[in-house]
Amino acid sequence: MYNLLKGKKGIIFGALDENSIAWKVAERAHEEGAEFVLTNAPIAMRMGGIKDLAAKTGSEIIPADATSMEDLNNLVEKSMEILGGKIDFVLHSIGMSVNVRKGRHYTDSKYDFTAKGWDVSAVSFHKVMNVLYNKQAMNEWGSIVALTYMAAQRVFPDYNDMADNKAYLESIARSFGYFFGRDHKVRVNTISQSPTPTTAGQGVKGFDGFISYAEKMSPLGNATALECADYTISLFSDLTKKVTLQNLFHDGGFSNMGVSDAVMERFTEE
Ligand code: NAI
Repeated sequence: MYNLLKGKKGIIFGALDENSIAWKVAERAHEEGAEFVLTNAPIAMRMGGIKDLAAKTGSEIIPADATSMEDLNNLVEKSMEILGGKIDFVLHSIGMSVNVRKGRHYTDSKYDFTAKGWDVSAVSFHKVMNVLYNKQAMNEWGSIVALTYMAAQRVFPDYNDMADNKAYLESIARSFGYFFGRDHKVRVNTISQSPTPTTAGQGVKGFDGFISYAEKMSPLGNATALECADYTISLFSDLTKKVTLQNLFHDGGFSNMGVSDAVMERFTEE
C-alpha cells in the first residue's frame, strides 16, 4: 500500500454488501490511511452487512436517504464532528430504477417510477453537492466521485431508464463541478465502470450476456469492483489534483472498441 490517503477524511455512500463497489472503495481507502464515515439508505442497513465493514475499517455509520435534504444535512454535520474537520473525499455510489425493479419496459415507463429512480440515481448527486457546497464542508483540493455507466452515451436496450439517469448524473458532475472548482478548488468527476456483478448490476435484465459480451469486446477485459476502487483511490489522492469535470472510462478499453476478434469469431463460426 502507498499511504495515498494518509490524513484524509471522507464520506462513502452505497456500501450494501461485500460485492458493492463502495465496499471495495472503503476497504482500499482504509488501507491507504483514510478515515471516513459510511452511509446508506436506512432500509439498506437492515439488509446489508455494513456493520461488518464499519468494524473492519474503524468507521462510523450514519444512515441517510440520499434524496432527503434533511438526512444529508445531518450526515454532513455529524461526519465533520466525528472526523474532526472538513471532508477531503466523497464517493456517490448509488443507483436504483423503480421501472427496472418492477419489470416495466422502457417504452412503457410509469412516470412516478421514472421520477423516483431519477431522484435516487441522479438528483441525489446534486443534493449531496448542494449540502457540501453550502456548508463549505469540503477542504480545498478535495475530490468528489460518482459512479456511472456507458449507457449514458450509447444504447444498451436493457439498461432502461438508468441510461437517462446516468446521462443526467454525468451532466450534474460537470455543472456543479464548475462551481465547486471555481469557489472551493474541489474536483468533481464520474467514473464510467464496466458491468460488475453487484446487487445493482445484476438487477439489469440479461446481465450475464451483457457482462460476457463486454469481457470479449475489451482488450483488457472487464474492470472488477476492486480495480474500480483502485482507480477511485487515485482520484481521491493528491496525484490527480487537476482532473475535474471529466467522465472517466474505466472499462478495459470497451468504450473505444468497434468490434474485437473474440466477438467476430462468434459471427464467423460455421
Ligand atoms: P450496489 O447495489 O451494491 O450499490 C447501490 C447502492 O445504492 C446500495 O448500497 C443502495 O443501498 C444504495 N441506494 C439505493 N437507494 C438509495 C437512497 N435512496 N439513498 C442512499 N443510498 C441508496 O451496486 P453497485 O454496482 O456497487 O452500484 C454502485 C454504483 O455503481 C451505482 O451508481 C451503479 O449504477 C454504478 N455502476 C454499476 C455498474 C455495475 O455493473 N454494477 C456498472 C457501472 C456503474
